[in-house]
Amino acid sequence: MADYLLSTYSRINLSFTHGKGAWLYSIDKKKYLDFASGIAVNCLGHSNPILIEALRQQSKKLWHTSNLYEISEQETLAKELCKLSFADKVFFCNSGAEATDGIVKIIRRFHYNRGDKKKKKIIVFDNAFHGRTIAGILAGSSNKHREGFLPHAKAKGGFIRIEFNNLKSLEKVIDSQTAGVFIEPIQGEGGINVATLKFLKEIRKVCNRKKILMAVDEVQCGIGRTGKFFAHEWSYIKPDLLSTAKGLGGGFPIGAILLRKKIAMQIKPGSHGSTFGGNQLASTVSLAVIKEVSKKKTLNNVINIGNYIKIEINKLIKKNPHVLEGIFGKGLMLGLKCKVSNIEFVEKLREKRLLVVPAANNVIRLLPPLNISREETNQALDSIREVMSEF
Ligand SMILES: Cc1ncc(COP(=O)(O)O)c(C=O)c1O
Repeated sequence: MADYLLSTYSRINLSFTHGKGAWLYSIDKKKYLDFASGIAVNCLGHSNPILIEALRQQSKKLWHTSNLYEISEQETLAKELCKLSFADKVFFCNSGAEATDGIVKIIRRFHYNRGDKKKKKIIVFDNAFHGRTIAGILAGSSNKHREGFLPHAKAKGGFIRIEFNNLKSLEKVIDSQTAGVFIEPIQGEGGINVATLKFLKEIRKVCNRKKILMAVDEVQCGIGRTGKFFAHEWSYIKPDLLSTAKGLGGGFPIGAILLRKKIAMQIKPGSHGSTFGGNQLASTVSLAVIKEVSKKKTLNNVINIGNYIKIEINKLIKKNPHVLEGIFGKGLMLGLKCKVSNIEFVEKLREKRLLVVPAANNVIRLLPPLNISREETNQALDSIREVMSEF
């Protein structure tokens, strides 16, 4: 059947029939513990009864009418997202990459509408990943992702790349054409690199001083993943714009841009849009997701289980220092830095029926559902322990 699919992925020969909570059931009737969560998407596990009920009820009423008309479900979701964050306004789209594109457009239009037509440059970082659209691959750091897709090999598209967590390089690159800074508070694909609180605070200060915008990409690290509703909250700063997707729909495709009023004021009807963005079905499911994720119980679980995993993995590292170098990250966005091949490690874990995700820089990502139990975590740790002893 795969003969008919464009070969953009090198897929694993594994297919699932259904899932329940943190468990996936394969076509050959094997049970897998899912510490990948569809790459940080299924934040409340598979077949969550609350999400099923929200989807079921809405599916009987109305799925989609387009943004030609008012959509009360979308308005409710926007209001809740604003209540949970720094934002005053929300724009809905369908994916993380689309949110990246929107952020880039809005940053530039903000300055343009205020009469500063030269401010177009956006500062991005080494090891960044912002999606696979043209703006996404330009903002991201991977040359491989750009190869053959741009008008010419050296096209930069107005993005200036600097070192992650390097305070000195930041101020040096800002000039009169700089429009903003776009950063993942924790880089996911790039290998679970955590922006220091000092670095995020400094970006905020510099952006204020230079009157440019600070945008955070929380597509992977947002929606409860680090134990706060949004990851930047750990640094006590407020960005001007934020992109989110993945966990926002718990498996239903939806993305969003959150922004402050002063920026929103510059964006007028006709300047941006999306046919599907925030339709009734997506908005209803997403509302159910964020209500669950924002509960103290969920966020505390993320912090407690995350800390527990770190403690246990550090014990394992002491016993097997030749396999892992360390564990990084926050909450349930954790990265195991490998000394052995991360790909081989991931394959061996899969043989033990534990699913995890590789990342750049020889890292393995642990991204379990946010409501994972201690018992399930212990099962995952047992598999990791066994595989470590095999190396
Ligand atoms: C930080 C970040 N931004 C953007 C994206 C792109 O999201 P999507 O795959 O939904 O387009 C991703 C996807 O992994 C991501 O991790």
